[in-house]
Amino acid sequence: MSFKALILAAGKGTRMKSKYPKVIHKVCGKEMVNHVIGASKNAGVDEVITILGHEAEIVKEKLEKGTLTVMQTEQLGTGHAVKMAKDYIDDEDTVLVLCGDTPLIKEETIKKLFDYHKDNKYHATVLTTIIENPTGYGRIIRDENDDLLKIVEQKDATYKEKETKEINSGIYCFNGKSLRESLELIDNNNAQNEYYLTDTIKIIREEGNKVGAFNGSKIEELMGVNSRVELSKAEQIMKQRINELHMVNGVTIIDTTSTYIECDVEIGNDTIIYPGVMISKNSKIGSNCTIGMNSKISNSKIGDNTTIENSTIIDSEVGENTSVGPYAYLRPNSKLGNNVKIGDFVEVKNATIEDNSKASHLSYIGDAHVGKDVNIGCGVVFVNYDGKNKHKSIVKDGAFIGSNSNLVAPVTINEKGYIATGSTITKDVPQGALAVARKRQENKDGWVERKNR
Ligand code: UD1
Ligand code: CA
Repeated sequence: MSFKALILAAGKGTRMKSKYPKVIHKVCGKEMVNHVIGASKNAGVDEVITILGHEAEIVKEKLEKGTLTVMQTEQLGTGHAVKMAKDYIDDEDTVLVLCGDTPLIKEETIKKLFDYHKDNKYHATVLTTIIENPTGYGRIIRDENDDLLKIVEQKDATYKEKETKEINSGIYCFNGKSLRESLELIDNNNAQNEYYLTDTIKIIREEGNKVGAFNGSKIEELMGVNSRVELSKAEQIMKQRINELHMVNGVTIIDTTSTYIECDVEIGNDTIIYPGVMISKNSKIGSNCTIGMNSKISNSKIGDNTTIENSTIIDSEVGENTSVGPYAYLRPNSKLGNNVKIGDFVEVKNATIEDNSKASHLSYIGDAHVGKDVNIGCGVVFVNYDGKNKHKSIVKDGAFIGSNSNLVAPVTINEKGYIATGSTITKDVPQGALAVARKRQENKDGWVERKNR
């Protein structure tokens, strides 16, 4: 006996007008179907079985690991889809059925549905809600005692049935045995010539078993995404939910409408997020940080007490008490230590910069290892590319790189090496040495007067 989830995801999603299957479109950085899988697992489901059909291989590749998949080669309806998984359903199981296009479903709601199903000893329970405009949804039809009688699809509903504002969310709990048996009895004699899962309700009731309708949530959570407009609505709702979660955890968000934080991002308390920020792909931000306006942080780690101003950070790590920007660009595999300063218009790529080092303005630091207490002057370029290959520069602790110098890699500046401003360095610099690699200045006295004569 176990609690299993079946996720219907075989449909094409024509209205998305996409070459990709609908359920892998993302909401706040995560595929819709994976939101549904995540909520099911968090609600205590032991096993998830996803029913695939349209572009199954593409969906499979994106599915969260550890879920079983079953093929529905022809999409003959939701009932037919569930039937594809019947070998995975035991009589004693409790089976949760959800659709892959309802990304906003919460684990709490699934738990409540499960409890309601168990407590009332129902054989099938449908999660419902009441909405002003129920067009398109299956309607919940109750009997004179207010008990669930059946579900009628929009296209099959009578005029009176269409007036019902209680709708089927497409999320259900079934007893394994009743589900298996009723699936054998559904037919496709309906307006869409489909095998409807919804017909199992009426069948189970007619067998003399109790069925229930649980009006347990709001449409903001149960909405199905069928078009890009609905995708954007889902995104807005999820974004607000994520922002609120961070605020509850002690993060200040100045403007929630313009702050975009994907799922699975961690942020420490007392961090302040300014407008226009986007934080994505499992990024981890420490406590007491300032993430300034229009910063983009993707798949990166930021230590405590660090300030990021108007900068882009991708696949990188930044230490504590460090300052980045404004207008800095940390490209993949940049690692900044503690008390580092990366100032305006500095680009760093595949480079480590250790504690207490500074590059305050207008530099390119690529393919490099920069030690501690290094000062990189304004306009320094790490010349890493010879047109064919990339080469590495090493700058050891305490070195000083004068403004507007070029370090032509491969090259090493040893401890406390001192590069005179404007030098183009092509040879290693010994420890404590001054390297001057530019022509000496020549002053021609009286030259201007002679020229103007
Ligand atoms: C379904 C319900 C409707 C409910 C609505 C909630 C039925 C008959 N109707 O209608 O009562 O109000 O969901 O959103 O169940 N799918 C398959 N294989 C198929 C057909 C569908 O895997 O053969 C999948 C789709 O990919 C989708 C889900 O099932 O994820 C729902 O199918 P859809 O066609 O969107 O059903 P609705 O018409 O919205
Ligand atoms: Ca739908």
